[in-house]
Amino acid sequence: MKLLVILLFSGLITGCRGNSSHSLPPKLLLVSFDGFRADYLQNYEFPHLQNFIKEGVLVEHVKNVFITKTFPNHYSIVTGLYEESHGIVANSMYDVITKKHFSDLDDKDPFWWNEAVPIWVTNQLQENRSSAAAMWPGTDVPIHNTTPSYFMNYSSSVSFEERLNNITTWLINSNPPVTFATLYWEEPDASGHKYGPEDKENMYRVLKEIDDLIGELVHKLKVLGLWENLNVIITSDHGMTQCSKDRLINLDRCIDNSSYALIDLTPVAAVLPKINTTEVYNKLKVCSPHMNVYLKEDIPARFHYQHNNRIQPIILVADEGWTIVLNKSLPKLGDHGYDNSLSSMHPFLAAHGPAFHKGYKHNTINSVDIYPMMCHILGLKPRPNNGTFGHTKCLLVDQWCINLPEAVGIVIGALLVLTTLTGLIIIMQNRLSVPRPFSRLQLQEDDDDPLIE
Ligand SMILES: *[C@@H]1O[C@H](CO)[C@@H](O)[C@H](O)[C@H]1NC(C)=O
Ligand SMILES: *[C@@H]1O[C@H](CO)[C@@H](O)[C@H](O)[C@H]1NC(C)=O
Ligand SMILES: *[C@@H]1O[C@H](CO)[C@@H](O)[C@H](O)[C@H]1NC(C)=O
Ligand SMILES: *[C@@H]1O[C@H](CO)[C@@H](O)[C@H](O)[C@H]1NC(C)=O
Ligand SMILES: *[C@@H]1O[C@H](CO)[C@@H](O)[C@H](O)[C@H]1NC(C)=O
Ligand SMILES: *[C@@H]1O[C@H](CO)[C@@H](O)[C@H](O)[C@H]1NC(C)=O
Ligand SMILES: *[C@@H]1O[C@H](CO)[C@@H](O)[C@H](O)[C@H]1NC(C)=O
Ligand SMILES: *[C@@H]1O[C@H](CO)[C@@H](O)[C@H](O)[C@H]1NC(C)=O
Ligand SMILES: [Zn+2]
Repeated sequence: MKLLVILLFSGLITGCRGNSSHSLPPKLLLVSFDGFRADYLQNYEFPHLQNFIKEGVLVEHVKNVFITKTFPNHYSIVTGLYEESHGIVANSMYDVITKKHFSDLDDKDPFWWNEAVPIWVTNQLQENRSSAAAMWPGTDVPIHNTTPSYFMNYSSSVSFEERLNNITTWLINSNPPVTFATLYWEEPDASGHKYGPEDKENMYRVLKEIDDLIGELVHKLKVLGLWENLNVIITSDHGMTQCSKDRLINLDRCIDNSSYALIDLTPVAAVLPKINTTEVYNKLKVCSPHMNVYLKEDIPARFHYQHNNRIQPIILVADEGWTIVLNKSLPKLGDHGYDNSLSSMHPFLAAHGPAFHKGYKHNTINSVDIYPMMCHILGLKPRPNNGTFGHTKCLLVDQWCINLPEAVGIVIGALLVLTTLTGLIIIMQNRLSVPRPFSRLQLQEDDDDPLIE
């Protein structure tokens, strides 16, 4: 019997030690399909993605950051910071001090990115590790004088296949090895804007194409022998909601366009007054019942969107599905950028690999929680951030995690065991003490445990 136990234990220990795979550093591929709204997963079919999830984990809703736009949210994923803290506060920005402009087409000045340090830079500060990027906002910019060792300049005309081919080549062949890599794809965002998420027929087609790309990704990783050891996260920056020509807010009907500069337009407008701020505010305040107007100092704390020079003195936040315009017709049938508490703005997250459980579903995390989780997987010390590692523990195989139903189960189980043990002890004591005269009395004195009542 003893021998058996020893054998079992030694088996366990050698099993845990594994072999060569232990000396390999962990690797992570972070994939974003732009504008993948969380509930697309419930409302459309994704056979390849569902297979991926079956062998991995799914987080059904990721609460992203305000404003729910592309550049700010992609930077929050890789820094764990709210927008006010990483400095990419919109896709269009203006800095009053330096008079610099930023837009998604003119984003290469490191000035805009240097308020934070993305994970691909931190990863490369480790000895013998490099990072690679098949696009991701910021990866073609020398942030703190560092780009990923391998990257592509942004170009929407590079096919998914080419991005995938090149990123996997880098993952396989490089020395020092690529341990962190990104892969970015513009859909389903582009089609979500064009058709609107309520256009079931077109979205069905587009989302089937996305699922096929995920199929290609998994197939390629398997063929190249990367599938078992590579951790893969598939996520997105934001969701999408339906807009309408019947839901327009025309600023020109409320205020002369010469009294302010518009840095960003919709659905969150960034207003830089050219005249008295109070006057501009008062006119905008009564412009529409379908938009909130905030002086910078009054922006609700829950947005974490206030403490940065690049946030303008007045911001306008349209209600879900409303579009702010300047005397123009509706520009897009779908949009995002709205309040980050709206579930239509949330993306999802799925992950697969040696770091993750298999077949586990989780309700929600914050997008800023992804960063400390990625640092943990890569063995990096996270920089100060707004995420909570504990929120992602249930996804990870090397973490002890308690979720509520499990916790209740454990407590009930423990109580049952205790009760049984106590009962047994009492029975034993009774038996042993039968010959002794006053034993019955003694037992009753000690017997104050309510559990056995
Ligand atoms: C480690 O395990 C792999 C299979 O997982 C095997 O091919 C290899 O020979 C092993 N190496 C050692 C040193 O045992
Ligand atoms: C880095 O790689 C070199 C050459 O492969 C090796 O000699 C060195 O020990 C490695 N350093 C660390 C910290 O792994
Ligand atoms: C990116 O573009 C810049 C300038 O256009 C060029 O100098 C650089 O070589 C390009 N980098 C890559 C990796 O293609
Ligand atoms: C991908 O790799 C091929 C082969 O090395 C190269 O010719 C091509 O320019 C790369 N594509 C991009 C977008 O960097
Ligand atoms: C709005 O545009 C129309 C023409 O498209 C023009 O006649 C009208 O004056 C404009 N109104 C304002 C307030 O700019
Ligand atoms: C302001 O409105 C006038 C017409 O009312 C128009 O000609 C001009 O282009 C507008 N300026 C801006 C910055 O939109
Ligand atoms: C701005 O306008 C408000 C009311 O219209 C006025 O009370 C305030 O003094 C003005 N501020 C400046 C700096 O002119
Ligand atoms: C977010 O994290 C940064 C860096 O630690 C910190 O400066 C900032 O105060 C945090 N924001 C909030 C709302 O806690
Ligand atoms: Zn986006």
